[in-house]
Amino acid sequence: MRLLFLGDIVGKPGYQAVCSHLAEIRDHNQIDVVVANAENVDNGSGLTPDQYRGLLDSGVDVLTMGDHLTRCSAISPVLKESRQIIRPANLPTKAVGMGWTTFDTGAGKLAVISLLGRVYMRPVDCPFHAVDRILGEIGEQADWILVDFHAEATGDKQLIGRFLDGRVTAVLGTHTHVPTADTCILPKGTAFQCDVGMCGPHESILGRKIEQVLKHTLHAAPVRFHVANDDVRLCGAIIDAGSPMLPRTIERFEKRIDQR
Ligand SMILES: [Fe+2]
Ligand SMILES: [Fe+2]
Repeated sequence: MRLLFLGDIVGKPGYQAVCSHLAEIRDHNQIDVVVANAENVDNGSGLTPDQYRGLLDSGVDVLTMGDHLTRCSAISPVLKESRQIIRPANLPTKAVGMGWTTFDTGAGKLAVISLLGRVYMRPVDCPFHAVDRILGEIGEQADWILVDFHAEATGDKQLIGRFLDGRVTAVLGTHTHVPTADTCILPKGTAFQCDVGMCGPHESILGRKIEQVLKHTLHAAPVRFHVANDDVRLCGAIIDAGSPMLPRTIERFEKRIDQR
């Protein structure tokens, strides 16, 4: 089973690049299943129902979200009904949507779990307790398990990686939009990367126009941050896994999109 996980898709440049190139990427890398983080698609924050459908049509199988989950309220009915989009599992229990799902890859079932970190982020329930509970719920239902840990601090991410080592196929980080150089198989066999990076414009500050973020920072000016346009790249990781669930390999994925 070959899984491609794509990090936070940012704005129109990221969305269009995924829609235009994913079929070819799937084919070229012999990918069986694609999971992508979609919390930043709609102008940098949130996801609309049309964008949800566009990403599934382009070849994404499961979408994860993050701290920008509620920026576009129109997505709520989709979160309620679809098994192909999940929200962080450690939100309050009444939050709309599911914290984990399974997807039939053809070769077996992949479970996907979304969790939020708590360091330098808004308060949420304990991700460690949440994932323990979910692994109990998943039981024998999945052949592979992917955890998207949407968190700020690398130490927080390393800790959940070690907590889940040997218990899940992969723990891959999102949210910081910058890929980390720590792609590895942990000692007990789980694939890990603190952050897989974003799918969006890299000539930017985390996907936003540099001058606007600078102006706001230097002058405390009330500036709106627009999504940047240049040097669009798709960043993620490719996991190759057999049976049982631990992976054979993990490699960083990065594709630069020629915008000329
Ligand atoms: Fe985020
Ligand atoms: Fe993000």
